[in-house]
Amino acid sequence: MSRIVLGVSGGVAAYKAALLLRLFTEAGHDVRVVPTPGALHFVGAATFEALSGNPVTTDVWSDVPEVAHVRIGQEADLVVVAPATADLLARAAGGRADDLLTATLLTAHCPVVFVPAMHTEMWLHPATRDNVATLRRRGAIVLPPAVGRLTGPDSGPGRLPEPADVAALAGVVLAQGSAALAPDLAGRRVVISAGGTREPLDPVRYLGNRSSGKQGWALARVAAARGAEVTLVAANVDAPAPFGVRVVSVGTAEELRTAMLSEAQEADVAVMNAAVADFRPETAAATKLKKGAASEPSSVPLIRNPDVLAELVTKRTPGQLVVGFAAETGDDEADVLTHARAKLARKGCDLLVVNDVSAGQVFGRPDNAVVVLAADGGVTELPPGSKDAVAAGIWTAIALRQAPGGR
Ligand code: CTP
Repeated sequence: MSRIVLGVSGGVAAYKAALLLRLFTEAGHDVRVVPTPGALHFVGAATFEALSGNPVTTDVWSDVPEVAHVRIGQEADLVVVAPATADLLARAAGGRADDLLTATLLTAHCPVVFVPAMHTEMWLHPATRDNVATLRRRGAIVLPPAVGRLTGPDSGPGRLPEPADVAALAGVVLAQGSAALAPDLAGRRVVISAGGTREPLDPVRYLGNRSSGKQGWALARVAAARGAEVTLVAANVDAPAPFGVRVVSVGTAEELRTAMLSEAQEADVAVMNAAVADFRPETAAATKLKKGAASEPSSVPLIRNPDVLAELVTKRTPGQLVVGFAAETGDDEADVLTHARAKLARKGCDLLVVNDVSAGQVFGRPDNAVVVLAADGGVTELPPGSKDAVAAGIWTAIALRQAPGGR
C-alpha cells in the first residue's frame, strides 16, 4: 500500500478525479484528496471524503495543530494532480503556496505527476508551455493531454487522459520512480503494432489468436507519457486510444503489413508487438459456410502470411530502430532464450523482447516478465511487473540505443 496525494484543481474534468480516486483505492492505496477551492465548484468534498475515507480540506487553516500543509506532502509516496489546470500549473511553477494543494507540492519529496486538462488555447499558450517546461526541468512528470472533445463544441488537445491510463502510469512511477516516465522520447516518432490479426474464413468466421493488445497499449501509453509522437496500428483491439495516441485500426495480417510499412517510413522506432497470424485460409468464402451444403469444407488449406517484422527490417530507414517480440516456450531442443536468440538473428531486428509463455501466462493478463535481447549482444532482464512497468523498461532499452534525433 502506498500513500497517494490526489490533487484536484478547478476544471470540469474534476469529475474524472473521482474515478481515478476509485482506481487508486481499489488498488489498495491510501489516498488523501487535496482539492483547490475551485475544484469544489465541480465535485463536492463529500464525494472525495466518502471515496477516500479521509478528510478533505482545501486551505492551510484547517487541522492547524497537525501542520497539514507540511505533513501531507512530506508523507506522500506519490502526488498526482488531476486535473491540473493552467492556473494550477502556473502556481506550481511559480512556487506559490496559497492553498493546501500548492503548499503540499512544495513539501513533497516524492515523484509528482501533473495531468493537465484545459482548453487547447490555454495548453498551447507560451505561458503554459514555459510553466510545463519549468516543472519538467525540476523533475516533475507532466503528461500530455488527450486530444478530443473539450467542454463545449470544440475539440483539440486538452482533454484529461482517461483515469485508467493515469492509474496505470501512476503505478509505474510508484514502482520505478520518476525516471520511468522521463521525457526522453520527446521529438521521436514511434509506431507500434498491437493486438492480434484475424484471417477470414467466411464473412463471420476467422482464424485468430489470444492477444489482448494490453502490452501494445501499455507501450503506447508509456511512450506518449515520455513525449513520443505515437501511432498504434491496432489489430482487433476494442479499447479507447491512450491519450495523444493516433490509432490506425486493421484486421488482417495484410492490412497490418500495409499500415506498418506506410507508418514506419516516418518513424524513428517501429515496434512489432502484434501477434500476426503466420497463416491465413487460402480463400475466404464470400458467403457463410453452411453445414451439409455442397460447399461444406472438409479441410481449410492455409497459405503463409507475409513476415511484417522481417520486411520492416529490410526497408528500415537510416537510424531507425526495429523492435520485435517473441512469445516462446522451451522444448526438448532448446530453452526459451536459445530459441529467442535464433529468432533475433533470423529476423534481423535491433531488439527482440522475449516472453516466456510456457505456462500460459501473459495473454490477457495484467502482469508480464520479459528479457530484451539486442543484436549487439546485450541482454536486459526486466523484473516482473505490470505491462506498463515492462513497457517502461523496454523504452529505456530502446532510448539507450538511439540517440535523440538519430534518424
Ligand atoms: N511477426 C510478423 N509477421 C508475421 C509473424 C510474426 O511481423 N507473419 C512478428 C511479430 O509481431 C513478432 C515477431 O515477428 O514481433 C516474432 O513473432 P513470432 O510469431 O514469434 O515469429 P515467427 O516468425 O512466427 O516464429 P515461429 O516460427 O516461432 O512462429
